[in-house]
Amino acid sequence: MISKHKLDFIDSELVKIKQNNLYRKLRYGKVEKAHITINGKKLLNLCSNDYLGIHPTKIQFKQLQSSSRLVSGNDESYKKLEDTLAKHKSKQNSLVYPTGYMANLGAISSIAKRGDLILSDELNHASIIESCKLSDAKVLIYRHNDMQDLQKKLKQKGKNKIIITEGIFSMDGDFSSLKQITEISEKAKAITIIDDAHGDFVIGKDGKGTPNYFNVTKKIDLYISSLSKGLGSFGGYVASQNNVIDLCVNKSKSFIYTSALPSFLIDYSLKRFESNREKQRKRLEKNTIQLSKGLKQIGYEINSKTHIIPIIIGSEKLAMAFGKFLFSNGVFAQPIRYPTVPKNQARLRISVTAWLSKADIEKTLEIFEKAHTKFG
Ligand SMILES: Cc1ncc(COP(=O)(O)O)c(C=O)c1O
Repeated sequence: MISKHKLDFIDSELVKIKQNNLYRKLRYGKVEKAHITINGKKLLNLCSNDYLGIHPTKIQFKQLQSSSRLVSGNDESYKKLEDTLAKHKSKQNSLVYPTGYMANLGAISSIAKRGDLILSDELNHASIIESCKLSDAKVLIYRHNDMQDLQKKLKQKGKNKIIITEGIFSMDGDFSSLKQITEISEKAKAITIIDDAHGDFVIGKDGKGTPNYFNVTKKIDLYISSLSKGLGSFGGYVASQNNVIDLCVNKSKSFIYTSALPSFLIDYSLKRFESNREKQRKRLEKNTIQLSKGLKQIGYEINSKTHIIPIIIGSEKLAMAFGKFLFSNGVFAQPIRYPTVPKNQARLRISVTAWLSKADIEKTLEIFEKAHTKFG
């Protein structure tokens, strides 16, 4: 067939995506506390990463923009936030990036070079995968949380060896085997990097994150995280020793060549950090227990021990039908499909938040019980 227009190939690509039940469409919604309203329908929101549900805090709206941080965008509020985050992670220093995605891109590609060997868990987030590609290092993927495979692959040559894992895996909700990873890493003199976007502010003492939960904080060389999940603000950051942060400032393209986050967002993160996070963490813990216990009682196979609870459906088509059924019954749990998760491992990724009340969870369980009867 002769193309009529140079962009006609896009239509056939889109058709292919649709045929594979992988088509995504943006929809507009209004999020308010435990709910989201879509097309006038108010639904319980089980897709929010605002895990702690800290009530919005008032901040003073200041000038929105100046430039990148190395030029004139480095508002003094950054200093306070970065000192706070460094202390939060028991590290010498920290650096805020516009997003967690950009923090991964910037930090990993600054550290890893040609001749180095990166060992990356097969379920690591897309931003880690992209960061590894950017780095020019040799990248080996080890089977998910498989320490034997990690040890085997770690034997390959590399000037510097770097192990990268998530703290709590974003789509499976399971913990990384952090204790073993740090032991293996120490023996191999490897650099340990953790992306704790989903554990930070939520897990461990005072929400210090997954390394604190496993008592291995000191063994983590680079800590990367997001301010947009547990903290419910916006941005990303890296915490490490001084020379690492210095290198990130000097080498990270995703830090140097982009505008600084506006200072009101930095103030917002600080205010939320200083709020009563402990109360919200307890509420989240209680909600997680209530929901996962209830789902198990209905007959769902639940293996997660965290606030991210996936229900694996398998087929993309079935997952879409499942999600549609929940939607029509007032629950928003968006199906997650390839390429976010492997093919035929489509799932409903339920994220619990402290916004949910006991009654909200009871209603959720009622609808999931109906869905279980319908879909088995
Ligand atoms: C594990 C992980 N790392 C990084 C990110 C990116 O964080 P941000 O949303 O701040 O860009 C995400 C977001 O989904 C994530 O799940």
